[in-house]
Amino acid sequence: MKKIIILGASDGLGKAIASLCLKEKIEVINVSRTACDIPGVVNLACDLSIEEDINNTSNLIKEKYNDFDAIINCAAIVAMEKINEITYSKFERAFKINTIAPLYLLSLLFDNIVKNEADILNIGTTADLKAGFNDQLAYTSTKYGLRGGSYNIGLELAKTKSRMIYVHCGGMNTRMHEKDYGLKIDNPEEWMDPIDVADIILYLLKLPKQIEITEITISRKKRRLG
Ligand SMILES: NC(=O)c1ccc[n+]([C@@H]2O[C@H](COP(=O)([O-])OP(=O)(O)OC[C@H]3O[C@@H](n4cnc5c(N)ncnc54)[C@H](OP(=O)(O)O)[C@@H]3O)[C@@H](O)[C@H]2O)c1
Repeated sequence: MKKIIILGASDGLGKAIASLCLKEKIEVINVSRTACDIPGVVNLACDLSIEEDINNTSNLIKEKYNDFDAIINCAAIVAMEKINEITYSKFERAFKINTIAPLYLLSLLFDNIVKNEADILNIGTTADLKAGFNDQLAYTSTKYGLRGGSYNIGLELAKTKSRMIYVHCGGMNTRMHEKDYGLKIDNPEEWMDPIDVADIILYLLKLPKQIEITEITISRKKRRLG
C-alpha cells in the first residue's frame, strides 16, 4: 500500500491510522473540516454534511490523488439525544455525515476504486449489531444505514479485486463523546486505545488479496462474563 484516503483523520481513530501509515511510509490524504496536524499528511478541507464539498473533494481526488490503494472512513458524529428530545435537524445532520457522505463519496469514486483494485474499510459500531444503546436512536440508525450501504457496495465489488471491509468498533478512548456532549471518559484504561484499533485496521488491509474479511467486531474486553 502506498496511498490511503482517510475520511476523518484530523482526530481520534482516523488520526491514529494516519500516524501508523506515515511510519510505514504510506501517503495519507485526510478528508475533514479541520486539518490533521501530523506533518506529512495531505489535508483536503471538506464538510461532509455539504454536498458541494463532497463533489469538490471527489473531483480533487480524481485530479491529484487518483492512485489511492484504500479508502478508510472514520468520520462520524455521535448524536446522543434522549429519544423524546431528538430534533429533525439533528437526525438529518447525523445521517448526512455518518451515512450519506461516505456512501455517496464512495459511489463517486467507484470507477477509480475498481480500476485501482483499491479496498474500502468503513468504521461502524457495536451498536449496529443489536438495538444500540439508550439515547442513541439517530446514531444507531445512521450506522445501520452505513452497514447496509457497505454490503451493497461489497456486492457491486464482488466481481472485482477490491474488497469491502466493515468494522463493528467498540468504545475507544477518543474525544468523540466529549466534543458535542462534554462527556469525559473517567476510566480510560477500560476503553480501547485508538492506536491498537488502527494497528488491526492496517493489518486487515494488508492481508493477501485472496483473503476477504467482510465484517469484523473489535470491542472492549467485557468486564464480566455471563
Ligand atoms: N469513540 C468511540 O468510542 C467509538 C465507538 C464505536 C464506534 N466509533 C466510530 O469510530 C469512528 C471514529 O470515531 P472517533 O472516536 O475517532 O471520533 P472523533 O475523534 O470524534 O473523530 C471524528 C472524525 O470525524 C470527522 N468529522 C466529523 N464531522 C465531520 C464533518 N461534518 N465533515 C468532515 N469530517 C467530519 C472529524 O473531523 P473534523 O471535526 O475536523 O471535521 C474527525 O476527524 C467513527 O465512525 C465512530 O462512529 C467510535
